[in-house]
Amino acid sequence: MDDSPTAASLRSCDNQSSNDLGDAGLPGGRAQSGPRAALRLAGKAVRHPGRAVLRLLLRARLARTGVAVDRMRLVSWVSERFGVDAAALQAEYRDSDFCREYASGRRKLWEFTGPQRLGTSDALSHEALYLVVRATRPRVVVETGVLYGSASAHILAALARNGEGELFSIDLPRDPQEPAHDFLVPAELRKRWTFVEGDSRRELPALLERQSEIDLFHHDSLHTSQHMTWEFQTAFRRLGPQGVLSSHDVRIAHSVREIFRPNAFQTFCERHGLRWRTFHNSGLALRTLVSALGLVAPAF
Ligand SMILES: C[S@@+](CC[C@H](N)C(=O)[O-])C[C@H]1O[C@@H](n2cnc3c(N)ncnc32)[C@H](O)[C@@H]1O
Repeated sequence: MDDSPTAASLRSCDNQSSNDLGDAGLPGGRAQSGPRAALRLAGKAVRHPGRAVLRLLLRARLARTGVAVDRMRLVSWVSERFGVDAAALQAEYRDSDFCREYASGRRKLWEFTGPQRLGTSDALSHEALYLVVRATRPRVVVETGVLYGSASAHILAALARNGEGELFSIDLPRDPQEPAHDFLVPAELRKRWTFVEGDSRRELPALLERQSEIDLFHHDSLHTSQHMTWEFQTAFRRLGPQGVLSSHDVRIAHSVREIFRPNAFQTFCERHGLRWRTFHNSGLALRTLVSALGLVAPAF
């Protein structure tokens, strides 16, 4: 299988730069360029110095391996783990109508004049979700943290291409003035989608109770160590033997005091003996024999 990167594999569908960090308070988003944005960021740094330190730390960590390298690692890993031609899936994604429609949705989001939160995830994490969904053909996908529907749209586009599967997404109520949760989700993809409004603390257990098994869980809600660990634990109990655990923000330090502690994703995977990898700021984990037998590996 040829995993070598094509020219297309080095650029992203929404034309973000190759060192794209999404717009989670970092370069890559509309509010992040120009003198006004610089002033806004400087103001934020003065008001929340701890957060500024964490942002700088994340930026330094992510700069260690460039996005292009991580994109190649992702393609190789998906090909190897799932026995698919991930480079072909990547090309399919890049050439899709969805990709063009999504890029146009992002432009509309940048032009949106009402209140808007930063936090839309980065292009590589979208691509990772698209490839994993195409490669593993999940029947039931659950995600937490939708914001304006960026990751949801990519999961739904891959499910549509598979011709099967459903996505259940949970997010808190939003300010009615800001873009809707489905802003970036093309209308024709919404039929496989159930959006649940509320706190995942309450809604995730209830949603999982209604499913006998889930095939993919994606976390991108509240990134405290406690909340991430709780979501992983809760979802993992319902994850099928071939299930995939996915998370965004796996390279962040959870607080200034936790700068030298591993991210909750890494800790969870190691504790449960899962095979895991990070690509840029996203993590993917698979069950191993240890976890499939319900054993928990000793924490270290
Ligand atoms: C980083 S954004 C999600 C980005 C999104 N996944 C994307 O692809 O662009 C985090 C989202 O998590 C939501 N959130 C935060 N705490 C939550 C909670 N306890 N339950 C559900 N959603 C939560 C926020 O409302 C916000 O929309």
